[in-house]
Amino acid sequence: MPVDTAKLHHFLSDLLGTSGVIDDPAGYSRYTTDWAGDRRGDPLLVARPRTTDEVATIVTYCHDQGVPMVVQGGHTGLVGGAQPDAERPELVISLERLSRIRAIDPLNFTISVDAGCVLQAVKDAAAEYDCDFPLSLGAQGSCQIGGNIATNAGGINVLRHGMMRHLVLGLEVVLPDGRVWNAMHALHKDNRGYDLKQLFIGAEGTLGIVTGAVLKLTPRPQATRTALIAVPDVPAALALYGQARRSCCDLLSAFELIPRACLELAFEADPDLPDPLDTAYPVYVLLEVAASGPVDLDAMIGQLFEDGMQAGQILDGVLAGSGVQAERLWQIRERMVEGQQQRGEHLRTDIALPISALSDFFDVASQAVAQHSPKTTVIAYGHIGDGNLHFNLLPPAELELAAKKALLHELESTLFALVDEYHGSISAEHGIGRIKQTPYLAGLAPVERELLEGIKRLVDPDELMNAGRILPRRA
Ligand code: FAD
Ligand code: LAC
Ligand code: ZN
Repeated sequence: MPVDTAKLHHFLSDLLGTSGVIDDPAGYSRYTTDWAGDRRGDPLLVARPRTTDEVATIVTYCHDQGVPMVVQGGHTGLVGGAQPDAERPELVISLERLSRIRAIDPLNFTISVDAGCVLQAVKDAAAEYDCDFPLSLGAQGSCQIGGNIATNAGGINVLRHGMMRHLVLGLEVVLPDGRVWNAMHALHKDNRGYDLKQLFIGAEGTLGIVTGAVLKLTPRPQATRTALIAVPDVPAALALYGQARRSCCDLLSAFELIPRACLELAFEADPDLPDPLDTAYPVYVLLEVAASGPVDLDAMIGQLFEDGMQAGQILDGVLAGSGVQAERLWQIRERMVEGQQQRGEHLRTDIALPISALSDFFDVASQAVAQHSPKTTVIAYGHIGDGNLHFNLLPPAELELAAKKALLHELESTLFALVDEYHGSISAEHGIGRIKQTPYLAGLAPVERELLEGIKRLVDPDELMNAGRILPRRA
């Protein structure tokens, strides 16, 4: 049934007012692309509701009239899930105006928020109550809580605090038929039957629109120490991880692998960024410990340095002497992602492996790439404390765009076959969306696929919500 766009426009304008609907290409262009600049099709229209009731009213209308929908948060997703479809135009439902902090309970260590709240705003609100919301990632100034929930976001503090899945206590979801499922519980323990909220976390908007969430907080760290440590190679980085995980008494909050090539990318993106060490080393680790009580973090890090030097795991290092210096070290981690983006066409992966297999995989995968394409550059960094590697590839600069794409496609298949051999995952944190769909489906057991399709059919039988993401459309 073709969508009556004029009628939809009329309905939305009545409900949301003129500022709540965008119908012209100039106005909606920013809703057609994501952070990486990927674009697919034009939307039917863009709707910008302010309340859960408005979202529910829009979704009920779309369900009754057969209007396909796509949900949008902060456009920082990296698997092409949020852009409107090219073949079957969709109504964009943007949550950017659904952005109230609803309540904070510092004794219960919880915050209740609208799903359109930007992650950084939630962290700032928690800080006012001497609390911390510990999800941290490079996109935190733009991504929204709803997007974090839909993608089960990870980031740099997962090894201590878990992924988004571990930080959500309650949810409010508008289902694809417009019904509201209100489960905004602020309970740290709740064992009543199936844990339905987990179904919506990581579902990438295919089962409903998250409109609200109750999130777990932690006490705000009173002291944090950040160090950039130079190590001889990846095996040494992993040995140091094993050591740090024990000797930092559970206070280790980040442990990131950063090869030298990544520092160079960060300097390309920001030439004013200083190189923290006088000498260039092949591999670095960016490490953070944090404590909310009276713990001598300097002594802890000092001992780790001493032991690591003696064991030959540490070559050199710098401990940030102030918050500003620590910020500068983290800037390297953030700017290198920008530097990589500025290089143009590249392969972005987010694979997961058992931590104990990372070192071997790194070696074997690097050799496989070199054998296939000696001039391709491996940019492999990431959250190795979670077994999560961004094993990314920059193709030879001199190739035409089409040749780059073809080469990266072949190399992706090679890498994913290796991931399989090591019993890993092709997505540790970014999800499937559209970009990872083919390899994801290829790895599904028939029983898994039946269960997944059954759930989608139960919740969204008409395939109107974020259809074609994770699973292909049936019709
Ligand atoms: P969007 O991009 O708008 O949407 C992502 C998906 O979620 C889409 O399928 C969309 O339809 C759906 N969606 C959005 N909002 C809702 C909602 N309210 N209800 C239902 N579905 C919804 N990710 C990590 O895990 N770890 C990292 O370290 C990390 N670092 C990053 C660094 C950079 C520089 C960038 C650009 C991205 C990074 N990401 C990382 C990926 C990204 O930030 C996360 O996936 C983020 O959670 C997406 O949130 P968003 O609001 O931007 O969602
Ligand atoms: C990172 C994102 C890309 O870790 O996941 O930089
Ligand atoms: Zn990451």
